[in-house]
Formats: sequence, structure tokens, C-alpha cells
Amino acid sequence: MRTLARPDYSQKSALVFDSGVGGLTIAMALKDAAPELSISYAADTEFFPYGDKSDNALRARLPGVARALCDEIQPDVFVIACNTASTLAMQELRETLPVPIIGTVPAIKPAALLSNSGIIGLLATPGTIRREYTDKLIAEHASHCEVIKLGSLKLVELAEAVVRGEMPPLSEFAAAQAPLFASPHVENIDTIVLACTHFPLVRKQLIATAPKPVAYIDSGDAIARQTLRVLAERPGTGLNSKAQAYVTSSGQSELKAVFQRFGFETTEHLVVKSPAKQAETV
Ligand code: DGL
Repeated sequence: MRTLARPDYSQKSALVFDSGVGGLTIAMALKDAAPELSISYAADTEFFPYGDKSDNALRARLPGVARALCDEIQPDVFVIACNTASTLAMQELRETLPVPIIGTVPAIKPAALLSNSGIIGLLATPGTIRREYTDKLIAEHASHCEVIKLGSLKLVELAEAVVRGEMPPLSEFAAAQAPLFASPHVENIDTIVLACTHFPLVRKQLIATAPKPVAYIDSGDAIARQTLRVLAERPGTGLNSKAQAYVTSSGQSELKAVFQRFGFETTEHLVVKSPAKQAETV
């Protein structure tokens, strides 16, 4: 029996984008799946966090920052490693960018398949929780389940702190996820979707402080597989050989050290014009 040769990604590149460090969970899944792929990482630190921004503010921000990154880095594929952005603006971004886009959306479908009790928790940013897109995913894939939603910006902040080497008390993780376990009629909750890319960074802390054992699932591996499927079908430009990190605000020395730990040797500051300034120059 002949086995199919695995595609070689050494002439190809991906840009992984998030508001902060959360997308590193997707970048690492991608690196595990294809170590030879050139991966750049970009964090929109100037506009962080995305989770509490209005839809209008994010819609105004995202195309400009994505376009600036694409022009600078010229990746073969653009991975939006952010549920908050993907559930809002995939269509606009597809229309704006000259490269294929992979979005990250809540892993509702696998959670519904995995859950025995049919009671699922959805842990995301407040933005992702209130999206129509999220409701549609639930209606399509989990209409037979009870889905308990919880938006938490606190967990985003805790994940940023942990990645920078801080050790917030475990009681903060317990308090942040407690509402998921609070209603008496959902005591059989057995699966929780980590629908913010920051949250797998604190999976250990969530497991340690859950009042009962549950499965925490995320979309990292699925996004990595989808990115590679898209890349396999495209000729590599070989343009982006230096895998590095980008931030949109100045300073950020702690973050540079974090990115180095994750394999991004250098971090550059990319200046993104605000929508108002862009308008001024038209
Ligand atoms: N990591 C992002 C997500 O997946 C959002 C974090 C933020 O609020 O900026 O939704």
C-alpha cells in the first residue's frame, strides 16, 4: 500500500494574529503540526483587549490593522487566532485581504459530540458571547444541548499575566469560572468550550479550580489542520522567511521576552494608522 507523502511547508508562511498573547496557542498548534512552516505572530496590543470593545469599534479597527500586517509580512495565509474578531468580521476581512483567511470560532460542534450529559459551558469574551454568529453555531450544532454561556474578560487578563510569568492566586480562576457551575439544574455540565484563544494558556488553573471534573476543549488543533489544508493547495511564495513577532504599541519589553520563549526571536513595532488618521489622508 502506498502512503501519501506529507506536504512540505518549508517554502510557505502563515501569519497568526490576535489582540494579545492568546493566539500563541494557535501558533504553537501550527508549529507542532508543521515545524518547517515559517510562522509570524502579530498582537494588536494597542487595541487590546478586544473582548469588551463595541462591534463598531472593532469593525473600524480590524481591516486597517490586518491590511497593514499583510502588506508588511506578506504571508501565504492569515490566521485570525481570535474568536472575538472571527465571530464578528470574517466577511469584511475576507473582502479586505489579498490572502486566504482562516478564522477561529468556538468549538461548539465537537463539544456537542463529546458531551454525554448534553450540558455544555461556553467560556469566551463578552464580545463572543453576544454574537449572532455564536448563536447560529449553537443552533446548528448543539440545538439538542443546553449551552451555558459565560463571558469573562478577567480570564483574558489572568492568561496575559500567567504568560508574563506572574502567578495570580488560584481563587481568581475559581471565581472567574464559578458561574458556569452555579445553576442547580446544570449540575451535570461535563464539557466546557474554551472559546477564547487566551484560555488554553490557563487550562491547568481551570482544571485545578473546577468544582467537578469536566473536559475543556478548544479549537487549536482544528485550526492548525485547516490552515495546513489551505496552504497545501497554494504555491508557496517563499517570501516570508524570517519568523518574528509584531506588536502595534511601543514598549512591550516583557512581551518581547514572552515571544522569544515561544520561538519568535525578534519583535517589531508596527505602526497602524487609526481609522480617523486614515480618513485624514484620503
Ligand atoms: N484571544 C481573543 C479571543 O479569542 C480575545 C482576547 C481579548 O479580549 O482581546 O477572543
